[in-house]
Amino acid sequence: MEQYREMYERAANEPEAFWSELARNELSWFEPFRKTLEWNPPVAKWFSDGKLNACYNCVDRHVEDGRADKPALIWEGEPGDARVITYSELRKLVSRFANVIKALGYKRGDRAIIYMPMVPELPIALLACARLGVIHSVVFGGFSAEALKTRIEDLDATLVITADGGWRRGKEVRLKDAVDAALRDCPNVRNVIVHRRTGSQIEMQNGRDLWWHEQEQQLGAQGDTCPPEQLDSEHPLFVLYTSGTTGKPKGILHTTAGYLLGTMMSTKWVFDLQENDVYWCTADVGWITGHSYIVYGPLAAGASVVMYEGAPDYPAFDRFWAIVEKLKVTIFYTSPTAIRALVRQGDKWPDSHDLSSLRVLGSVGEPINPAAWEWYYRVIGKERCPIVDTWWQTETGGIMISPLPGATPLKPGSATLPLPGVVPEIVDTKGNTLRDNREGYLIIRKPWPSMVRTIWGDPKRFEEQYWSKVPGAYFTGDAARRDEDGYYWVLGRVDDVMNVSGHRLSTMEVESSLVHHPAVAEAAVVGKPHEITGQAVCAFVTLKKGEWDTGALSQELRQWVGKEIGAFARPEEIRFTDALPKTRSGKIMRRLLREIVTSHAVTGDVTTLEDMNVLASLSTQQDEE
Ligand code: WT7
Repeated sequence: MEQYREMYERAANEPEAFWSELARNELSWFEPFRKTLEWNPPVAKWFSDGKLNACYNCVDRHVEDGRADKPALIWEGEPGDARVITYSELRKLVSRFANVIKALGYKRGDRAIIYMPMVPELPIALLACARLGVIHSVVFGGFSAEALKTRIEDLDATLVITADGGWRRGKEVRLKDAVDAALRDCPNVRNVIVHRRTGSQIEMQNGRDLWWHEQEQQLGAQGDTCPPEQLDSEHPLFVLYTSGTTGKPKGILHTTAGYLLGTMMSTKWVFDLQENDVYWCTADVGWITGHSYIVYGPLAAGASVVMYEGAPDYPAFDRFWAIVEKLKVTIFYTSPTAIRALVRQGDKWPDSHDLSSLRVLGSVGEPINPAAWEWYYRVIGKERCPIVDTWWQTETGGIMISPLPGATPLKPGSATLPLPGVVPEIVDTKGNTLRDNREGYLIIRKPWPSMVRTIWGDPKRFEEQYWSKVPGAYFTGDAARRDEDGYYWVLGRVDDVMNVSGHRLSTMEVESSLVHHPAVAEAAVVGKPHEITGQAVCAFVTLKKGEWDTGALSQELRQWVGKEIGAFARPEEIRFTDALPKTRSGKIMRRLLREIVTSHAVTGDVTTLEDMNVLASLSTQQDEE
């Protein structure tokens, strides 16, 4: 703890000296940097005159430094197949695939969409892009063709990397079909490279669609090497779309050096990473957690990374624990939603496995409730393993607030203290700093290396969204409180963003999908508390005039949203109503709807409500259910 305090002080007092020293010592450079930080709010440039390559840092340098035969990826397929890929094998596989992309004419600055199952070819595809300076954007395999299309368009991508399908709960997720549907409206995509995973029948469009393995075979032996491009520190590494407060997702841009340093250092600090650790983060690479803590952070640190393709409950509720036992996992990082879902199934599932290899447990994506924390600590960690509750966001790139295992005294439910170099603050609506134990907005005062650089194609939205609430400071969109020990308690979002299973979802995105349906006049969506997923989507819907069978329509609308966004966005509940509560200016009062789904009592200020009767009838509807 003393060491942490010292480091924190140093980083706070001399941030540039602190970060430049780490960047020099921990990253491998083709050309060293001299400038540490150029900060013209909201535009940050870190280590800008240096040159490096993220893929080289994650792969090649470990081969050269004595980790050639160390497992880099330890993969478990859902059906029970498995693969171990060493660092030297990874270098070869990544180089070969980079050569495939290169041979097709793709080069630095081009954009590639990656839409794949959790197979080794997924990190290989990311790293191959990074090797060439091709900007990647992974779209989570649970997103629909429609969502895929809007991302391809926004990014003006010319390459799509996908697979025939992937396995989830024993069923095939047919990814290539979705790509085909999306590409009907995307003429700028020149190629689709398809990895064969399931072997099922798919369409291959002549000239456009190419099999990964066939392209590789054509390379011959010289395909095994591919020199990594020497890229600027601020060269865009990837864009990852995340939900904002409007219907349109934001393309969060991360660049090379700062992101890599932030994710690598946080991996080492937060998980106390040691040379022989077997590290497993259960997230999907389609989300930021997978980018930062399956691919870039742990691989830059030279770790052995476990990757699992499928569902935690397949073929049975002990799949996670069976993998921990089989692979002797030492560090395990998952979401409160996964923990809550497994708590329900009882202790017999973990109790039937040897979990004694575990050393550190992590939690991410949403606040962890005390009951889930206790179970995780007692039944999984056997009261031996510290739990690191890590607070961060797609935009922060890496973990910001978290205990350091073994050092930071834990308080269940608190992400505890900021990492070195992170300067959070709690402010009121006017941006004034609040005293301890007051609830307010969580902001970050100082720039940090892995911070979001902009929103792809929309610097204005970037500035408005994150930097205008408190000028010059980063606005997180979360409410939090700091207690008398300086510990942070993150309370949840203050904007119209829901958190379902640790995945961010915009109320407006679901609303705009619902109003596209011919039967729907208006829709208002709120998150309602849910025992397992934290929040669930609840939609209030008014219908256009006509005869509607609301029973059938409820199902249809759920499927509709599944088709427009993805199955995970489907409303759990749809309430049909004659009108929605609005202010005089016509704005839907989501706060009131939130209160209706949270409790029966409606409290707070309702003086701006246009029609109190609407509210009364909405509450009654709940009473009747
Ligand atoms: C939002 C970010 C962080 C990667 C996965 C989600 C919530 C995240 C915690 C935590 C309480 C948390 C916040 C944040 N959140 N971690 N440990 N305790 N809340 O990334 O989709 O960008 O969502 O997730 O509300 O703003 P994301």
